[in-house]
Amino acid sequence: MADKKYIINYEEFASASQMTPEDRELVAAAIDAQKGSYSPYSHFQVGAALRLTDGTLLKGANQENAAYPSGLCAERVVMFFAGANYPDVPFETLAIAGSDHGVLCDSPASPCGACRQVMAEYQKKHNHPFNIILVGSKRIRKFHCVDDVLPFIFDSLSVD
Ligand code: THU
Repeated sequence: MADKKYIINYEEFASASQMTPEDRELVAAAIDAQKGSYSPYSHFQVGAALRLTDGTLLKGANQENAAYPSGLCAERVVMFFAGANYPDVPFETLAIAGSDHGVLCDSPASPCGACRQVMAEYQKKHNHPFNIILVGSKRIRKFHCVDDVLPFIFDSLSVD
């Protein structure tokens, strides 16, 4: 038996003003993307903004449904759009912002497990690590690859 540690490094900012202009733009885009949220059941508006390595900036928002499981999170909306329309362009940075009843949450939005697994798939598909920015009104966190939000990623090719 061996005791092991898994250390995750990430950056934390008190506000977007401390970030690079590119990241500031993405944070603003994630907040703006919340306008597209269709969330009559949870009243939780999530916006996601994705910058591809060719500079393309895409937005998505959560879409709910009376049959609850038929809805989809904002992150997957934008990632699947990118996968369908820009299949060969790797992801550069994904920013996510969540609001409860229209008020940006204090704590950074934290993606669900299913969205993290989808992030992992695109990171693997493109063989290109990408940044993930989680936006809250009191602090913003920036992670530098999917492994840092999903340690020990499931990969059917590496099951042993
Ligand atoms: N939601 C997202 O869009 N992203 C997440 O990572 C977590 C949750 C959405 C799903 C649902 O429409 C609402 O937030 C409440 O769970």
